[in-house]
Amino acid sequence: MRLLLALPFAVLAVSPALAVEIGDAARGLDYARVNCSECHAVEPREMISPFFDVPTFREIANTPGVSELALISFFQTPHPTMPDFVVPSADIRDLVAYLATLKN
Ligand code: HEC
Repeated sequence: MRLLLALPFAVLAVSPALAVEIGDAARGLDYARVNCSECHAVEPREMISPFFDVPTFREIANTPGVSELALISFFQTPHPTMPDFVVPSADIRDLVAYLATLKN
């Protein structure tokens, strides 16, 4: 079921021009402030994360190889260092849209 849900997003995410339209970047930032800012620097101008070894959202957005697709699959999978970490699909699209705005 999860695969079926993921497919339309994956197809949309392949085109960078569409990436901004699939989610709402402002809502993505709101979601990140609530759910991610405990560990990550999520604000556009924030350069240091609350935890020294946690990447800022800007660093994540500008990491070579971190595509929209990679982010989407990352958010759909529980992550060992990030407990209970599975983001609902609608919020994934917003987060990915927000991260896209942080690319240099
Ligand atoms: C409890 C702390 C914590 C919270 C909350 C948290 N993260 Fe993380 N995150 C980490 C740590 C630690 C790492 C780096 C270690 C790693 O990559 O394994 C990380 C890495 C990442 C990465 C990079 C993974 C990679 O392989 O480079 C992404 C993307 C990410 N987090 C997104 C998010 C998002 C989006 C949220 C909010 C929905 C979030 N994180 C909330 C601790 C957290």
